[in-house]
Amino acid sequence: MPLLFEVFFFFIVGAVSASLTSDYYQQLIAQETAKSLTYELPKKNEEFKTGYESNAINDYGEYDLVIVGAGTAGCILATRLSEIAKISILLLEAGGEENDFNQILAMWPYNLFSDFNWGYFSTPQKRSCLGMNNSQCVIYRGKVIGGGSSINGAMYVRGNCKDYDNWAALGNRGWSCKDVLPYFKKSENSQVDGDEGYHGIGGFWNIEYSLPESPLLHTFINGSLETNLPFIDYNGRSQIGVSKLQSNIKRGRRQSFGTAFLNNARKRSNLKVVTKALVTKITIDRRSKQATGIEFVTNNKKFRVRAKKEVIVSAGAINTPQLLMLSGIGPRNHLKDMKIPLVVDLPVGKNLMEHPVINLIIHTNYTAPNISTAESVEQFLNGLGPLTKGANLEGLSFFHTRNSSTEGPQIQLITASPYAVDASLFPKLINFNTTIGQAFSKQLQPQNDMVWYVVLLHEKSRGQILLQSNNPIDFPNIDLNMFEEQDDVDVFSEGLEYAFRLLETEAFKKVNATLLDISLCGDSGTRSKQYMECLMRNLAGTGYHPIGTAAMGPDPRKFVVDDKLRVHGVGNMRVIDASIFPLGISGNTNAPTAMVAEKGADIIKAELK
Ligand SMILES: Cc1cc2nc3c(=O)[nH]c(=O)nc-3n(C[C@H](O)[C@H](O)[C@H](O)COP(=O)(O)OP(=O)(O)OC[C@H]3O[C@@H](n4cnc5c(N)ncnc54)[C@H](O)[C@@H]3O)c2cc1C
Ligand SMILES: *[C@@H]1O[C@H](CO)[C@@H](O)[C@H](O)[C@H]1NC(C)=O
Ligand SMILES: *[C@@H]1O[C@H](CO)[C@@H](O)[C@H](O)[C@H]1NC(C)=O
Ligand SMILES: *[C@@H]1O[C@H](CO)[C@@H](O)[C@H](O)[C@H]1NC(C)=O
Ligand SMILES: *[C@@H]1O[C@H](CO)[C@@H](O)[C@H](O)[C@H]1NC(C)=O
Ligand SMILES: *[C@@H]1O[C@H](CO)[C@@H](O)[C@H](O)[C@H]1NC(C)=O
Ligand SMILES: *[C@@H]1O[C@H](CO)[C@@H](O)[C@H](O)[C@H]1NC(C)=O
Repeated sequence: MPLLFEVFFFFIVGAVSASLTSDYYQQLIAQETAKSLTYELPKKNEEFKTGYESNAINDYGEYDLVIVGAGTAGCILATRLSEIAKISILLLEAGGEENDFNQILAMWPYNLFSDFNWGYFSTPQKRSCLGMNNSQCVIYRGKVIGGGSSINGAMYVRGNCKDYDNWAALGNRGWSCKDVLPYFKKSENSQVDGDEGYHGIGGFWNIEYSLPESPLLHTFINGSLETNLPFIDYNGRSQIGVSKLQSNIKRGRRQSFGTAFLNNARKRSNLKVVTKALVTKITIDRRSKQATGIEFVTNNKKFRVRAKKEVIVSAGAINTPQLLMLSGIGPRNHLKDMKIPLVVDLPVGKNLMEHPVINLIIHTNYTAPNISTAESVEQFLNGLGPLTKGANLEGLSFFHTRNSSTEGPQIQLITASPYAVDASLFPKLINFNTTIGQAFSKQLQPQNDMVWYVVLLHEKSRGQILLQSNNPIDFPNIDLNMFEEQDDVDVFSEGLEYAFRLLETEAFKKVNATLLDISLCGDSGTRSKQYMECLMRNLAGTGYHPIGTAAMGPDPRKFVVDDKLRVHGVGNMRVIDASIFPLGISGNTNAPTAMVAEKGADIIKAELK
């Protein structure tokens, strides 16, 4: 073909396929958002019931390692450990594969009303979640390859150096700040202009800014500077200050651990991945107290598989304690109540930590440009624009309060620019009851409103996970127990006071910023302690950051795993996921979980050699 024709030919084909892709994405967005608005969350693991209740149990053979859960930790472990060709690995995931829709970060809130979410709620609460339907906070949990990383806000936050020194101070050797920094850097392919020496380049997990920035991001930065916070790289030298958000995306698309990690390993012949498989039990030899394998349900059938070397539980901070307790590892009395024979008495499910979060809606007189779906899809296909942002999250700050008892920050403030809220989804997203939901919906102006998420980082109150029954088809009971401790109320009040101060800076005056107040708690003008406490107890949800329910530490009376992540008193078995965090993190939990998995993989590799 003459060159001219060839160029012409390519041009036509290129143009046609680009517009097909654009049509495809526009349709996908229309379809999936509509579906999610009417989706009903499940109340139990119904799809596995028939298989679980079948009498026959089939043999699924034998693997060196069996990993439960292909979430953040499970994907990293399977990828790193299958680098050793002679080790055979079975990775089991209750959810299905990712799709094109969840790659669009902005569609994050819609994915929560789909099969990608387990469907949990807290138990009815007495001191918090009072403005929610039946006083129950919603608990989102990924049920898909990639787990939380496939449905989350993709905020890349490591927490404070001191957090990890605090882990080490409990007696966990090898977990200090200095020890864990290399594991953060190992995963990372940083494309941001961060502090030198703190970022990894060449790792699997891409980190970039989403562009273009809204002018309101700069209003937020300028206002924060007025309050004397410095501009920083919050994943760098110092964490106290204001910053632009570093995001887990690559050319604008979500970087889940399915996409960024597991896809590199799925072709390996020593790794078998089974989706839509619910692990119902870890089998443990009663005499030797060694894990021997697991039982799982898939395709309406029940299977048993042996683990020659180890069972690794990476089912996340809600499901890991559930599975441990179903297998006889947990608090003696609770297992007795549930009629489950005890294997070892450990404080499984205790020490549940969460980050209480209040969404403040801030009216401004800035109007975000109206962008059609077609235009935003065009931008997305070029790695830019609103579809590349998680609910328009753009900036964040971290700071101390006067009542600070930790050296890390106690409050995180995250800002989202207008178009962050879909007025039809907002109340449902937080499970607000009808009164409160309507009060908000009436006043929302999506093109003008910012959302500020005020996050309490180191809550002192502790919740717990208990079983509802000994049947794995039932959901666990999740008692958040937020704001039991008065200290949490005091420190969080100071966080809110700061947000109100920020609202009064020159930067925010320029856009006539005001708080959307639903008059639930009296006059917002008073800013009294009672007003703040009322906001917390009624309107605070969680940051979707449950941790700590199989905590790491030396003493089996207080902790569930040791510093090599081995379950105390049970052989051939580890827990590697967000459950093992013994103390809170000064930030979101995905990157810290990735760090734990990277380090866990190295610990296991050293033992296998
Ligand atoms: C809506 C939302 C937004 C978030 N936003 C952010 C954010 O912006 N930044 C951030 O850093 N963190 C965020 N997080 C938190 C972060 O995603 C989690 O901390 C992280 O994914 C935890 O990893 P994990 O490996 O412990 O568990 P998960 O990622 O939850 O993985 C557990 C996996 O195990 C599977 N599983 C569970 N039980 C079984 C079983 N019995 N059998 C088989 N499979 C099972 C699950 O389906 C899941 O895939 C968010 C979380 C949510 C839900
Ligand atoms: C919603 O919660 C608020 C605050 O707790 C309460 O005053 C109101 O009665 C509740 N409304 C409904 C319909 O439950
Ligand atoms: C922020 O401050 C800088 C420097 O004073 C100024 O140039 C810029 O216009 C401000 N931006 C906004 C959005 O307020
Ligand atoms: C700190 O908390 C205590 C209660 O724990 C409270 O009485 C006090 O007012 C708080 N201090 C400040 C400076 O807010
Ligand atoms: C709250 O419950 C009521 C009644 O059960 C229901 O009509 C409403 O849709 C629920 N609200 C949300 C946000 O789920
Ligand atoms: C927004 O409000 C500020 C302060 O009241 C005012 O100076 C500015 O002109 C307003 N801008 C717009 C676009 O209305
Ligand atoms: C600022 O906003 C408030 C509340 O939305 C409104 O009543 C007022 O008129 C606005 N002022 C200016 C100068 O735009």
